Amino acid sequence: MQILKTIREMRSACSLAKHGDQRLGLVPTMGALHEGHLSLIRATKAQCDVVAASIFVNPTQFGPSEDFAKYPRSFERDRQMLEREAIDLLFAPAVEEMYPQGMTTWVTVEGLSDKLCGKSRPGHFRGVTTVVTKLFQIVQPDAAFFGQKDAAQLAIMRGMTRDLNLPVEIVACPIVREPDGLAMSSRNAYLDPQERRAAPVLYQSLLEIQDVFKQGERRAQKLIDAGKQTIAEEHSVRIDYLEIVDPETLDRIEEVSETALVAVAAFVGSTRLIDNLQLSSD
Ligand code: PAJ
Repeated sequence: MQILKTIREMRSACSLAKHGDQRLGLVPTMGALHEGHLSLIRATKAQCDVVAASIFVNPTQFGPSEDFAKYPRSFERDRQMLEREAIDLLFAPAVEEMYPQGMTTWVTVEGLSDKLCGKSRPGHFRGVTTVVTKLFQIVQPDAAFFGQKDAAQLAIMRGMTRDLNLPVEIVACPIVREPDGLAMSSRNAYLDPQERRAAPVLYQSLLEIQDVFKQGERRAQKLIDAGKQTIAEEHSVRIDYLEIVDPETLDRIEEVSETALVAVAAFVGSTRLIDNLQLSSD
């Protein structure tokens, strides 16, 4: 595995690796890797000839009062995990390399960027789309792999590549969970033992909604109420949003007809976690 720290080095390593018609897949991450990230790496390996990953805690997607400074950073451990997966290229730039002074250009997917997490984290998705566009420009991947865990991010990536005609296939990978159902996340490391015990309630609320849906309920508000009731049983958990939306437009749905995305964000203590599940009538 080659580790590249500068844009120049990464650009030339990628163009060398892509020689001929080798298919290059990219997995963008912020590090603090877990099995969720590794599932993306393995999917990339299965579908591509060359596997590249990036580790970059992207400051522009954190709000001023968010956890950029304390976000877990474990480069040596991450490096070993990726080494074991035998990926080809690891891009790990410094903040000054990605954001030299005077940068004033942003990529924004209007409409989608202020829904779900975008509503409670203004500017978050602008930071994500900008850094991912930069990564695409540097790496020039044929495909990029994203987790369904961040469903809004995925919809935004699809919108962005379509609108800007970026020649990158966006591949979605399923959510990887802990045995008790909690979706894996780098932020789970913030939870104290009591919060960790409470955290699976997010997934339980989604399962409750799915149950009520399977019993025939199609009114979104009724489904949401059932999920909220489940979460209310855990006093340390405070809902940020629990919505049923169209998976592509992220617009709220009143009556579920075919497929719908149930998305939840909640604070467990002071840690904000997200999860989601797709409802489908077949
Ligand atoms: P990060 O949170 O590190 O996640 C990197 C990728 O791993 C994302 O595509 C995310 O959806 C996926 N992922 C995280 N947890 C997962 C799980 N439990 N199961 C499956 N996939 C999971 O998302 C970001 O970083 C950043 O916004 C980034 C795209 C790198 C831009 O900075």
